[in-house]
Amino acid sequence: MDWEVFLNPYNQAVDELKIKFKGIREQCVIENKHTPVEFVTGRVKPIASILDKMKRKNLSIEEVETEIQDIAGLRIMCQFVDDIYAVIELLQKRNDLEFVEIRDYITNKKPSGYRSFHVVVSYPVQTVDGEKRLLVEIQIRTLAMNFWATIEHSLNYKYGGAIPTNIEERLQRAAEAAFRLDEEMSLIKGEIQEAQKIFELKESRKRT
Ligand code: GTP
Ligand code: MG
Repeated sequence: MDWEVFLNPYNQAVDELKIKFKGIREQCVIENKHTPVEFVTGRVKPIASILDKMKRKNLSIEEVETEIQDIAGLRIMCQFVDDIYAVIELLQKRNDLEFVEIRDYITNKKPSGYRSFHVVVSYPVQTVDGEKRLLVEIQIRTLAMNFWATIEHSLNYKYGGAIPTNIEERLQRAAEAAFRLDEEMSLIKGEIQEAQKIFELKESRKRT
């Protein structure tokens, strides 16, 4: 298996989609509209993690392309829960990608407390051998959900997936607190957005 060759189109997909999703934010800021996109990150799964997942799911090399959906992964962070659904609508309308699967861990949070909206899309990259469609996993979440998931991920790493029960319980409570924060913020969303628009306008006047 030549991993460099195999992963090259995935690298291309992540680079392209990062630019495209950041473009949503840029356009909204320029037009002084509320942006549903706060920031975007992306990564290609490290080879060691692909090999781990192959072992865990008992996959052959031929199955990797179709069975590991997050070799290319994008994350879109939003300020408000509503923005997540606005992003999903924007993505659905695009003609450069196609929804393959959605996993709504906001309505159905995971037992860990994890919340996020996952969309697996099929995305065409142009290669020298023609078009190649790849699966890309897009995780859409609020800043609060991202804060929680990042911390839980580090703890999972530290404890090799076996987080002690007392910490696990605290994490579940922290996840609920993060969700209440999202709910509280959404109650004053109008107020916050008005303030941000005024601030952004002031900043843009400084630039011109
Ligand atoms: P995988 O085989 O792990 O991909 O599970 P799956 O196919 O059921 O996919 P899922 O929709 O659960 O998405 C997996 C990805 O979501 C992970 O790579 C993480 O980025 C994220 N994720 C899912 N559950 C958790 C969780 O409990 N904590 C954190 N921090 N991230 C999670
Ligand atoms: Mg997955």
